[in-house]
Amino acid sequence: MIDIMGQEILEMSEKIINTLLKDQTTGNNICWGTEHYIELGQDYYPQEPITKGLIVGNRQNVIRPRIVKDNEEKAKRTKDKAEVFTPSWICNEQNNLVDEAWFGKKDVFNTVIDRTWRATTERIVFSEDKDWRKYVDARRLEISCGEAPYLVSRYDTVTGCEIPVEERIGLLDRKLRIVNENTVSEEDWFKWVKRAYESTYGFEYQGDSLLIARCNLLFTFIEYMEQRFGHKPTEAQLQAITKIISWNIWQMDGITMTVPYSERPKANVQFTIFDFMDNEETSDKEQVPCLVKDWRANKKLEFRSMVEGE
Ligand SMILES: C[S@@+](CC[C@H](N)C(=O)[O-])C[C@H]1O[C@@H](n2cnc3c(N)ncnc32)[C@H](O)[C@@H]1O
Repeated sequence: MIDIMGQEILEMSEKIINTLLKDQTTGNNICWGTEHYIELGQDYYPQEPITKGLIVGNRQNVIRPRIVKDNEEKAKRTKDKAEVFTPSWICNEQNNLVDEAWFGKKDVFNTVIDRTWRATTERIVFSEDKDWRKYVDARRLEISCGEAPYLVSRYDTVTGCEIPVEERIGLLDRKLRIVNENTVSEEDWFKWVKRAYESTYGFEYQGDSLLIARCNLLFTFIEYMEQRFGHKPTEAQLQAITKIISWNIWQMDGITMTVPYSERPKANVQFTIFDFMDNEETSDKEQVPCLVKDWRANKKLEFRSMVEGE
């Protein structure tokens, strides 16, 4: 069974932990966004920030991946927020369809056998008009990502067993395989790994699952580096990847496209006497729209404006 929020995360530097907990839109920490922890006290109410102090020491196992939650807890979360995680084999088959459309052929990364798969072992070949760099830069988003099983696949979401790096099936895993197969020096590898992270996005409402998703992406980086070069990343490399993750895997209410439990004064609103005569409540506050980053253009954009612009 893989240890997600265990000792390893707590041994990270203060800076890494703070970045993992940061909401890049507001500059505050991500919030719990779930009523699941309220019996632990006011600091664990849905609108309150998740801080290091609330998840370390004797609270170290407060946040646990869905696979180790008991059935009652799972049922409550399913009822509250439709939390049901997709089995890894289904994530794989759907991700295969995405790649089939991109490459114009089947079974590029693996072959499906019943409810499992076997990774292809030959180096993946690209056509001249679509070279490997385009694949790394192609943007991918997992909506309502939970622990992000479509992006990375460190453990099987049904059994909780670790999946070896070479058999992983996430959209980011696939980009990292392509980087492994097409770079030689560590410098070049890291440059393209960063770009793979920059083109991989996910959002989630509940802060605990979001934090697990962020950790899953960070540990994925560490595991690929150890496998490829036999050593851990430097602190600077970890910080660079964590910063991308904290932008790209963000907390959002997907219905309003705003930061859960955020408020700011409404811009340019003039109330009239009729607003106050209306029985409906009038507020001069609004939820903060989420920002996302376009890394290639080095620009911050409102996610809402991107969706409305499409
Ligand atoms: C069915 S689960 C899917 C999780 C993951 N994508 C998977 O396939 O395993 C749905 C997820 O949507 C999240 N969710 C529910 N309402 C949401 C909302 N309004 N905005 C964003 N995420 C939401 C839940 O917290 C939960 O993690």
